[in-house]
Amino acid sequence: MKVIVVKNYEEMSRCGADLFTERMSQKKNLILGLATGSTAEGLYAELVKRNQEGRIDFAGVQTFNLDEYEGISAENEQSYRYFMNHHLFSKVNINPENTHFPSLDPDGSGKAYDDAIEQAGGIDIQLLGLGRNGHIAFNEPDETLNNYTSRITLTQSTIDANSRFFDSSDEVPRTAISMGVGSIMRARELVILASGADKAEAVSWLLKGTGITTQVPATLTLAHPHVTLIIDEKAAGK
Ligand code: GLP
Repeated sequence: MKVIVVKNYEEMSRCGADLFTERMSQKKNLILGLATGSTAEGLYAELVKRNQEGRIDFAGVQTFNLDEYEGISAENEQSYRYFMNHHLFSKVNINPENTHFPSLDPDGSGKAYDDAIEQAGGIDIQLLGLGRNGHIAFNEPDETLNNYTSRITLTQSTIDANSRFFDSSDEVPRTAISMGVGSIMRARELVILASGADKAEAVSWLLKGTGITTQVPATLTLAHPHVTLIIDEKAAGK
């Protein structure tokens, strides 16, 4: 894992955008794995700016998002589809048909989503944020983790963390559909971003050498051969 420590959120966003810009210029039909959350907003703003300046082109790009809440529609401002439309897709030259979000199959599995990723050629570069409890996507700390895309039940820690986007914590959906850690680990490259003191503990679990544990899902990425972790000074504080 390559670790880059930068000064603040803005530098983290630019540094992440530099990496995406480089990969997008190397391959026209890049398959991007994307994340939602406050951490990714600055990076998306940078990518929008660079697209408007003609430095990057989304015409041939396909995207697969990590996760989506269950039970709220794409028009709901709290949905991850809405977030992505608002922060990126509506502002760049991407074909909306090339943007994908996880959903469940009639049998309750998420197999069709993992199959769609594979049929597209696999994810070239996967963006990840870090949950305060060390989750990636919505893979919450547990004795076992999902390999494939599945329905998950959010932990209280995540409900509390995400309630800031809702009127009250009662409105936070209790379930979501998330890529599994296997879906994430099959990406050819991972980029993890973390900013701020409330991520410092999760970053320390990842880097202090406690090893790989399903109780800190992000530690699974220690076994991936091509990972860049970009953190600001506050997130590196512990
Ligand atoms: C959320 C999302 C993750 C995201 C993480 C961090 O619950 N499911 O995909 O990366 O938690 O979010 P934030 O960047 O807002 O701290």
